[in-house]
Amino acid sequence: MRAFAPIRRGRWWLVATLLVAVGVLARETRDAAIASAHPMATAAGHEILAAGGNAFDAAVAVAGALAVVEPHSSGLGGGGFFLLYIAAEDRYVFVDAREVAPAAATPSTYLDAAGKPRRGASTNGPLAAGIPGEAAGFAHLAERYGRLPLATSLAPAIRYAQQGFPAYRRMLLGLRFRQKTAAQWPAFGEVFYPDGAPPEPGYVIRQPDLAKTLQRLAAEGAPGYYTGETAQFLVDGVQAAGGNWTLADLAGYRVVEREPLFTEYRGVRIVTAPPPASGGIAIATILNVMSGYDPAALTGVDRKHVLVEAMRRAYRDRAIYLGDPDFIDIPVERLVHPFYAAGLRASIRVDRATPSASLPGLWPAGAERPQTTHFSLMDAAGNRVAATITINGWYGSGFMPPGTGVILNNEMDDFATAPGVPNDFLLLGADANAVGPGRRPLSSMTPTFLESDRGIAILGTPGGSRIITMVLRSSLAWMDGATAQEMVSMKRFHHQYYPDRITAETGALTDEEQAELERRGHEVSVSPRNFGNMNVVTWERASGRVEAATDPRGAVEAENVRVY
Ligand code: GLY
Repeated sequence: MRAFAPIRRGRWWLVATLLVAVGVLARETRDAAIASAHPMATAAGHEILAAGGNAFDAAVAVAGALAVVEPHSSGLGGGGFFLLYIAAEDRYVFVDAREVAPAAATPSTYLDAAGKPRRGASTNGPLAAGIPGEAAGFAHLAERYGRLPLATSLAPAIRYAQQGFPAYRRMLLGLRFRQKTAAQWPAFGEVFYPDGAPPEPGYVIRQPDLAKTLQRLAAEGAPGYYTGETAQFLVDGVQAAGGNWTLADLAGYRVVEREPLFTEYRGVRIVTAPPPASGGIAIATILNVMSGYDPAALTGVDRKHVLVEAMRRAYRDRAIYLGDPDFIDIPVERLVHPFYAAGLRASIRVDRATPSASLPGLWPAGAERPQTTHFSLMDAAGNRVAATITINGWYGSGFMPPGTGVILNNEMDDFATAPGVPNDFLLLGADANAVGPGRRPLSSMTPTFLESDRGIAILGTPGGSRIITMVLRSSLAWMDGATAQEMVSMKRFHHQYYPDRITAETGALTDEEQAELERRGHEVSVSPRNFGNMNVVTWERASGRVEAATDPRGAVEAENVRVY
């Protein structure tokens, strides 16, 4: 089953072609394309495009379907970022539908009496969940940018929830991982553990409560989720299980529209995620550092070494400076300034690794379980969406408030719940990303557009802290001529300041490169696991060719289904 497919021109194409002929809509020489993590989600998007929807309606359809058929990664209990390009206005918007901390959340919520993090408090159960943003994001996209009613765009998701979808290996692995936590709360188990255990592949999973929650959202828009019956179910369930949400928290949730972050490297314009995402600033910093080197002269292992040193420094800045821009002052201009990068570059030696602990910053005293999902799409009018959406860990917090069918996120773990103590992704943080009422936790999600004389690429991936370096390296590959398929397939390596080591997929480094990096002082950890699950759409200016590619690591039936 393919999770992507360019859509062929329909009848509207005749009209569009006439308009192109008179030079009105230059961007309509393209086919539409969708790349997502599940074939049923991609099909939902195409169904809505065929019904006359635009890219933004299709984005609602794809994300709504993913909430049903990829329940371990994203959903109405989570949030996300939608990077939009509105072709008719030549305008970019970053729709921030990130979760927010409930009013009762304070820096001590996740600490014991001795000020140490309470094990599992920010990862399991209702206390781990921020107030979800995805439902508000859907309503916002439909009302502000779509052509179709929300109810039309959510119809495929509702149908999938009612009729069911076949269980597949990747989601079943997550169910095994979550079994102990989920056993504490029966609503989750009733849907996903028939007879008390994960089902066999192919078992049809129906989600009648989720269908009703989606129907209320579809009929009433955001109030159908954030007030009324759904809100009451959510709050009753959370409070009964020891969580701290209130009806006011839900009623107060708002999507925020932000200016994307723009940067440039080697003649390519990069349109990407601003805070509370950390990826845009980190990518700008890394590319600014790299721009001080001659790409023709910096090749092979030297290039990888310098890239790792730039990653190390960008992630150090992430730990110190980044958080919710509505609550803290982030020195964005400084961090993305070429002079600042020149200072960072001055501390890089090409022949030797810089120990992270030797850099001024946070240095404290694992494994990542990144779920999250990304899809890329473009319609025939040139509208684009890069969306990365999440409930954070596998099946989020593992908690489903009875009556909702909604799995709540564990996004509170993306805060620095204790200064200098690594989170589940081993990321460090401090005051800039402290827990606080109404704050959005810092994210690594990095939906991105690349634009150049060559054309356009729309990309992003799940993968926790590694999202940023995956997007970065696939962007560099596109600048070097890679196709969409090559971008999603390339082997990945990563450094995030702490822990002070390069993690790499098998095959990302040759034996000689690994030996040379170790000789320069790097610790290198080669993982048998896969990193990420990237989805890319590209458009070539010269040929007009559209390519949509899904990551072979994420294939729904693949054997290598572990996504790390
Ligand atoms: N929950 C993963 C992220 O936002 O970075």
